[in-house]
Amino acid sequence: MAREFTRVGVVGLGTMGAGIVEVFARNGVDVVAVEVSEPALARGRATLARSTDRAVAKGKLAETDRDALHSRVDFQVGLEALRAVDLVVEAVPEHLDLKRRLFAELDRICRPDTILATNTSSLSVTDIAVATDRPQQVVGLHFFNPAPVMKLVEVVRTVVTAADVVDDVEALCARLGKVDVTISDRAGFIANALLFGYLNQAVGMVEARYATREDIDLAMKLGCGLPMGPLALLDLIGLDTAYEILNTMYRHGGRDRRHAPTPLIRQMVTAGLLGRKSGRGFYTYDKPGSAKVVPDGQTPAPTRTVPDSAPVTTVGVVGAGALAAGLVEVFARAGYPVLSVDGDTGSSAGISDAVRTALDEDVARGALDAADHEATLARITWSATLEQLADVDLVVEAVAEESSVKQALFARLDEVCKPGVLLATTTSSLPVIEVAMATQRPADVLGLHFPDPAARRPLVEVVRTIRTSAEATATATAVCAALGRTTVVCGDRAGFVVDALLLPYLNDAVRMLEAGYASVDDIDHAMKLGCGYPTGPFEVLDAIGLDVALAGQRAVYREQREPGLAPAPLLEHLVTAGYLGHRSGRGFRDHSGR
Ligand code: 3HC
Repeated sequence: MAREFTRVGVVGLGTMGAGIVEVFARNGVDVVAVEVSEPALARGRATLARSTDRAVAKGKLAETDRDALHSRVDFQVGLEALRAVDLVVEAVPEHLDLKRRLFAELDRICRPDTILATNTSSLSVTDIAVATDRPQQVVGLHFFNPAPVMKLVEVVRTVVTAADVVDDVEALCARLGKVDVTISDRAGFIANALLFGYLNQAVGMVEARYATREDIDLAMKLGCGLPMGPLALLDLIGLDTAYEILNTMYRHGGRDRRHAPTPLIRQMVTAGLLGRKSGRGFYTYDKPGSAKVVPDGQTPAPTRTVPDSAPVTTVGVVGAGALAAGLVEVFARAGYPVLSVDGDTGSSAGISDAVRTALDEDVARGALDAADHEATLARITWSATLEQLADVDLVVEAVAEESSVKQALFARLDEVCKPGVLLATTTSSLPVIEVAMATQRPADVLGLHFPDPAARRPLVEVVRTIRTSAEATATATAVCAALGRTTVVCGDRAGFVVDALLLPYLNDAVRMLEAGYASVDDIDHAMKLGCGYPTGPFEVLDAIGLDVALAGQRAVYREQREPGLAPAPLLEHLVTAGYLGHRSGRGFRDHSGR
């Protein structure tokens, strides 16, 4: 029979500790909430009150239930208050010495049968367990921020944890309404090991002024459907916590330089810019502890002051694949006359069918009415020739993803198109500057990266090279706005913003699977339930295509030469074996029955 947990202790009432107290108390468990001093206790009490008051204000919690919740929490200074509890969860700062000292004390104070759990994010649970005389009763219970909201708990079992202790805490997680994954003791466990390389890399982009904080966050929200961008998430986690986690993962997780904290994080911590909890981090908040962002010196003006953009009235789309079809549809639906040019065969049968089918589907879904359907088709000129692009104002290229093919096309466009035309490539993995330099007008060439599927995603990455003019960037941004798209502007680096941040994370997930640390399902689960991702990494890989992900990851690796970015051998092997994901019926999962 599973052990009954009627009274538990939580030590450390920072962001995570206060959240864990709330989780227990909401689910009918009495909690002794412990801090080292009265001021720290008051801060913890205030954090809990803020969270429950917000739930009451939103009508999610009745006032009486809030009062009952608070009555279950006994706030105390000092560990002696934990003598009679069934379980202690520790959530103090991420310092091994501190945690080891604390566990030795808890071992001395608590009843012999009490289970001791650490909420450490990245330190070794084993190192902490052996500071006690009961290592078989020590586990990791890793909650995610905000603890009352995120469904996942990682249960970390060391080589000495007793099986019944694991069973008991798993049953407790279920009682708390959480979903657990049970894993062994490795730096960063599942979710942090996959999350923090990505967060650190995003900070590197800010530090290098590669893109603005708003654009990086927007890119990941709109390009990948994440609930929040990486910089806003770091503000939620706390920059001090993030620094410690990265530091530990670097030192104990294989000295991958991608986990060495970006210097900007240390500077921000030293300057007291810790994120939401201090009222300022990457963003500024209306007060410490608040989630409300207020404008500051880095906030872009509501209407960006951009140089005059050139008017665009007609558009040429070159290419015959799915992306070209999506672009023809997007521009025509937005009211632009479109010339569709299939550079290779001169026949537009395939692309015309694809666009008609997509428009029919839009009508069937009620997203387009019949009259607009006809008007959209009437705006498209099929089987146009390159020569017919002489008078368009914008050419968007979506031909094969090969440098020589694109360069040859841009050299031809340079001959054909009138001066001042904006020439855009949709490449996802080649340097835009290579294409631009095939023309005599590199100032008018840029990248327009439409994350897949082009017709549905709300984002466009506008990629400016070191030769792109400000006017060309402004024109591209204005055209995308007319398409109803949100743009982010970035430099010409492999993967731009979205793929540069997404692909290494996917690659890391494959490496974790390859190492036998966790299963496809557990990894997908952890990212969805721990970080609110709409899809897990293996679902994403099967959807975008393993070959596409591999090509992108190779491009990122080729450019950065960072050993940790080398494509995972398992990914290479699956692609070689023809397991490409949904498209081939099998990838990380079997889709043949669908
Ligand atoms: N505390 C308690 N509840 C909170 C909260 C907080 N800090 N922030 C938001 N909530 C609640 C809201 O009250 C709301 O509840 P309701 O649905 O009952 O009304 C719900 O969460 C949704 O909040 P909002 O509508 O205000 O805002 P969003 O829909 O944007 O959701 C979010 C906010 C839940 C934080 C969402 O953006 C999200 O899932 N972000 C990703 C968070 C994440 O990745 N966490 C993991 C970080 S890594 C980690 O914790 C590991 C550690 O070791 C560092």
